[in-house]
Amino acid sequence: MTQTVRGVVSKKRGEPVQLVDVVVPDPGPGEVIVEISGCGVCHTDLTYRDGGISAAYPFLLGHEAAGVVESVGTGVTAVEPGDFVVLNWRAVCGQCRACRRGRPQYCFDTHNAAQAMTLTDGTELTPALGIGAFIDKTLVHQGQCTKVDPAADPAAVALLGCGVMAGLGASINTGAVNRDDTVAVIGCGGVGDAAIAGARLVGARKIIAVDTDDAKLDWATDFGATHTVNARRGNVVEAIRDLTDGFGADVVIDAVGRPETWTQAFYARDLGGTVVLVGVPTPDVRIDMPLVDFFSRGGALKSSWYGDCLPERDFPTMVMLYLQGRLPLDRFVSERIGLEDIENAFAKMHSGRVLRSVVVLK
Ligand SMILES: NC(=O)c1ccc[n+]([C@@H]2O[C@H](COP(=O)([O-])OP(=O)(O)OC[C@H]3O[C@@H](n4cnc5c(N)ncnc54)[C@H](O)[C@@H]3O)[C@@H](O)[C@H]2O)c1
Ligand SMILES: [Zn+2]
Ligand SMILES: [Zn+2]
Repeated sequence: MTQTVRGVVSKKRGEPVQLVDVVVPDPGPGEVIVEISGCGVCHTDLTYRDGGISAAYPFLLGHEAAGVVESVGTGVTAVEPGDFVVLNWRAVCGQCRACRRGRPQYCFDTHNAAQAMTLTDGTELTPALGIGAFIDKTLVHQGQCTKVDPAADPAAVALLGCGVMAGLGASINTGAVNRDDTVAVIGCGGVGDAAIAGARLVGARKIIAVDTDDAKLDWATDFGATHTVNARRGNVVEAIRDLTDGFGADVVIDAVGRPETWTQAFYARDLGGTVVLVGVPTPDVRIDMPLVDFFSRGGALKSSWYGDCLPERDFPTMVMLYLQGRLPLDRFVSERIGLEDIENAFAKMHSGRVLRSVVVLK
């Protein structure tokens, strides 16, 4: 048995996405069908459309989503029909060498659905990040479903499925920001603002937001930045040092991923401080700096994939903090749109006027 629903598909590199009929098979062993309630529009969806991730067209886009389990295949024990879940792209295997060494955030063999969703002519779709959630119902592996409190707004908690968790985790997990730390975050889009919210949550003493856009800096203040620096006006490294008694910040998070922002992060940290790269660099980017600067400054240079999150550990906690009013997830939702509005949402990403457009279904 199959069912046919509406889904947003990218068929050709760089061409506008299309809302088409998608055939979803009944869930097989370990698989689950989730009725999508909300799905954020992430930059990575646009990168898929433009050929920056792979050439495996057609893609079924969308990957930061929450919804309700509709049906489950044999052997599914993690969830049951009616459960409210946030989808994740880190369903860890428990068997690979990273998992066995107790570092499941680096799992080499994360689970996805075994069966493919297809176009009506049978062409198999490649789901974005193994999810594919700009669709009425999607097919995923049970491990990709994390059960959370159904009292939460699906549009807000959907965002934990990618960018917001990446930012929160860049602070809390990768950067290990702690009470009394000084933190600087370069780039205050959805990811950077989540890093700021994370730093506030764990009690950072000073949180310095850096962006080229004053409106973004105002939003960053709403998320918990105590100081702001406009990178277009003046020297970012000096400004961060001035705000930290001349020392630099304990943790500097680069949520842009350009050579200039990473270099600023490198020099704007205190001796022995930590740099976290969570912005995704393009493959052409190079860094050129004296190796002795790295040696003599000590500390840690880290990157953060998906905020080093473990969905089963982190999603329910973040949802609880949100419901308690301690984590303003709903402030990331700039607009609620339909499945037919994805191209408009891509265009708005570049305008700087939205943190996240979120597709809301039903
Ligand atoms: N590591 C991960 O797992 C992960 C997950 C999701 C997204 N990301 C990446 O995180 C990055 C940020 O994503 P986003 O959704 O917040 O993007 P965004 O475009 O909404 O935000 C980027 C921000 O950086 C600012 N900016 C640009 N150039 C700057 C500069 N030179 N100095 C200071 N600020 C500058 C922009 O004004 C904007 O506010 C992207 O590279 C995205 O691909 C990483
Ligand atoms: Zn593994
Ligand atoms: Zn994403």
